[in-house]
Amino acid sequence: MTESVLRPRRSCLAVPGSSTKMIDKAKGLAADQVFLDLEDACAPLAKPGARKNIVAALNEGGWGDKIRVVRVNDLTTHWTYRDVVEVVEGAGDNLDCIMLPKVQSGAQVQWLDITLTQIEKTMGFEVGRIGIEAQIENARGLLAIDEIAEASRRVQTLIFGPADFMASINMKSLVVGEQPPGYDVGDAYHHILMSILMAARKHDLQAIDGPYLQIKDVDGFRRVAGRSAALGFDGKWVLHPGQLDAANEVFSPAQKDYDHAELILDAYDWYTSEAGGKRGAAMLGDEMIDEASRKMALVIAGKGRSAGLQRTEKFTPPES
Ligand code: GLV
Ligand code: MG
Repeated sequence: MTESVLRPRRSCLAVPGSSTKMIDKAKGLAADQVFLDLEDACAPLAKPGARKNIVAALNEGGWGDKIRVVRVNDLTTHWTYRDVVEVVEGAGDNLDCIMLPKVQSGAQVQWLDITLTQIEKTMGFEVGRIGIEAQIENARGLLAIDEIAEASRRVQTLIFGPADFMASINMKSLVVGEQPPGYDVGDAYHHILMSILMAARKHDLQAIDGPYLQIKDVDGFRRVAGRSAALGFDGKWVLHPGQLDAANEVFSPAQKDYDHAELILDAYDWYTSEAGGKRGAAMLGDEMIDEASRKMALVIAGKGRSAGLQRTEKFTPPES
């Protein structure tokens, strides 16, 4: 993965572009990513004003090392081109990614890629720096996910949009993240989540889970976030500051798992060396480690390092 794709996105905070108050508040919150929304959190009549608020807020700064993202409207509307032109011409140097909702094909991603390149060249911005986040929110998007993921080198994340997805497939439930009543034989979202995760891993992108709408129910958020985190997702949307700590915690490895992963990496490094006997498999305490253990440890260690965890244990080679 490139450095920009690897930046942590445990918590992706949604902020309506129409609310300057919420935008200001977001600057001080502990989210890895903030996305300023021009789509569903902005009423049609508020969209022109929201574009201006967003440009001003991005240029004003104060975002720390948060990933700064703007969600534009999807390409079945007439708003998308103006969203992109106005926001990127106005604040392209102070923006990390454009999020495209309801993506249905690789061609839609290519449209955004080409438009960004034209604006970057016109404005004298670095060409190709602004990334793309693609929301998968309907059957068309899911079935085209492979071509969406590889449509542009700018794509950094694939995001599950559960609310629109549930509506688009006629799922018999109104509660995002919960199982539809009547379906009692498993997780109704498993196929969608796994398809997004597989495409993300195949193309070295991040897989991000979408919103949990019961914002007062932090336990519910934690439960639903825990499922996608367990599968391997990198982060989740946060709709309210009250969900932030839970997201950051659930998508960071536990300290003991992080320590153990770093220990495996050091031990395996030593055992495979000349001094350690050039061994491909070795014992670490009661556990056998090999190349596959190293790969699994790298994932946990990578997540822990990007979450800022510090190791508390050191590997000491056994006395020979
Ligand atoms: C997010 O955009 C969703 O539809 O869940
Ligand atoms: Mg949506």
